[in-house]
Amino acid sequence: MNADVAVIGTGVMGSNLARNLARQPETRVAIYDLDVDRARAVAAAHPEAGFLVAETPAALAQMLSTPRVAILMVNAGPATDAAIADIAAVFEPGDIIVDGGNSLFTDTIVRGEQLEGTGIEFVGVGISGGEVGALLGPSMMVGGSEAAWQRLRPLLTPIAARAEVAGLEAPVPCVAHIGTDGAGHFAKMVHNGIEYADMQLIAEACRILRDDLGLSPAAISAVLTEWNAGELESYLIEVTAEVLAHTDAATGLPFVDIVADAAGAKGTGAWTAKVGLDLGVPVPTIAEAVFARSLSQAGALRALGADIPGPVGNTEPLSTGDRNAAGGPTGERAAADGDDPVAPDRLGERIETVRQALFAGKILAYVQGFDEIAAGAQAYGWDVDLGELASIWRAGCIIRARVLDRIVAAYDRQEGLGSLLADDELRAEVGQAQGALRSAVGAAIGQGIPVPALSSALAYLDGIRAPRATAAIIQAQRDFFGSHTYGRVDRPGIFHTLWSGDRSEVEL
Ligand code: 6PG
Repeated sequence: MNADVAVIGTGVMGSNLARNLARQPETRVAIYDLDVDRARAVAAAHPEAGFLVAETPAALAQMLSTPRVAILMVNAGPATDAAIADIAAVFEPGDIIVDGGNSLFTDTIVRGEQLEGTGIEFVGVGISGGEVGALLGPSMMVGGSEAAWQRLRPLLTPIAARAEVAGLEAPVPCVAHIGTDGAGHFAKMVHNGIEYADMQLIAEACRILRDDLGLSPAAISAVLTEWNAGELESYLIEVTAEVLAHTDAATGLPFVDIVADAAGAKGTGAWTAKVGLDLGVPVPTIAEAVFARSLSQAGALRALGADIPGPVGNTEPLSTGDRNAAGGPTGERAAADGDDPVAPDRLGERIETVRQALFAGKILAYVQGFDEIAAGAQAYGWDVDLGELASIWRAGCIIRARVLDRIVAAYDRQEGLGSLLADDELRAEVGQAQGALRSAVGAAIGQGIPVPALSSALAYLDGIRAPRATAAIIQAQRDFFGSHTYGRVDRPGIFHTLWSGDRSEVEL
């Protein structure tokens, strides 16, 4: 019996994607795993999927109807290289190998080049949505050639998430060809960078609600649930509200209080920051979100910091528990000794300030991410439709959010929109929320509450607003110690001052 597509790697993501494919009419799916028992177990656990289990790459190649399509769902890095080598050895010209993992886009470019000459097409696809997305409909960012995309399109479109869009009768499938070679993985990398920034911004907003405004985790959960009904609506806000409402069964404490304060990272956020540095695109909020995770892991450093006196917000030691864990939507915490409780009549207003600050930070994180994709497209020669990319992030993926409708609308309004901030509406929006961002960050700084992502978003905003910022002095310093030259505001040209001579200026 012939299979229409193969999935290589039957971990949770791979098996769920395979089950999603197998649900489509007339789609027979073959699965292969280096660990044959694991593949057999997946097939046995999901008889409805009718998986064909291949025991070797050669058997897999025999099972597939030609031209063949195999989707690799294995760990990024050496495991992906090994799987490509195994499959390429048994595939023929015209067959397609898809890498659906979180591969670094430059690896995808190199792997495509290595397969050139074999006639086998290599396509890097960024897949977002976690385990549930893989099963029920992920968002997919496709790289590789246009010809490969045309062949993959009928296979991927039915398994993609669908975004319901006001004014459109049919939902939009969340899959698109982003550009050639590594473009799909580049877009997924930046998706993850924005994910890091958004998660950090939300976590900081929660910290302010807790340590400045004195709300309990349960009360913060209620606030977030309310926010989720408005312009901040997003999967990440929804998830955060859920974890904040959860109670640890063993201790009865809020779950977020028993989780160790150290965040892991698999590397895609760091790649986004590094590529931003390489391309010279400012992505400070994304970078700060990555560094915040590194700092969270720096136990020895944090132990030293714990000795440095100063405000640390209204935090209470864990042993005291959360006195208002069951707090309702208003949820003010009783003041700890020496705390100033927030006056109930001002609480709503202060919460609204945090909400607006978060919204501003979020838009600015998207601005940075889209700028990086535009710069990447230029550097690598991809013709990326940024509006289309925003449109396929509206469902299925981790950063799905109502604000993406606004971003899509901005790209629709103006063809060839440079930065998202070139859109009058979004720029005005950020301008309006600026006061809230400033006041939330100011309050947090005053209280010693770390808000690196929110404050970097504000510094980024102030940096682009400032008629003159700090670069003139930097450039003058560079010219002083290294004859690095400078431009003048009053006439064109390249200049150097003879700092160790008579300090006259020469034009170069
Ligand atoms: C997704 C996610 C997914 C995952 C990453 C990031 O889009 O489905 O981004 O790829 O969450 O592995 O994980 P880290 O936080 O571990 O870097």
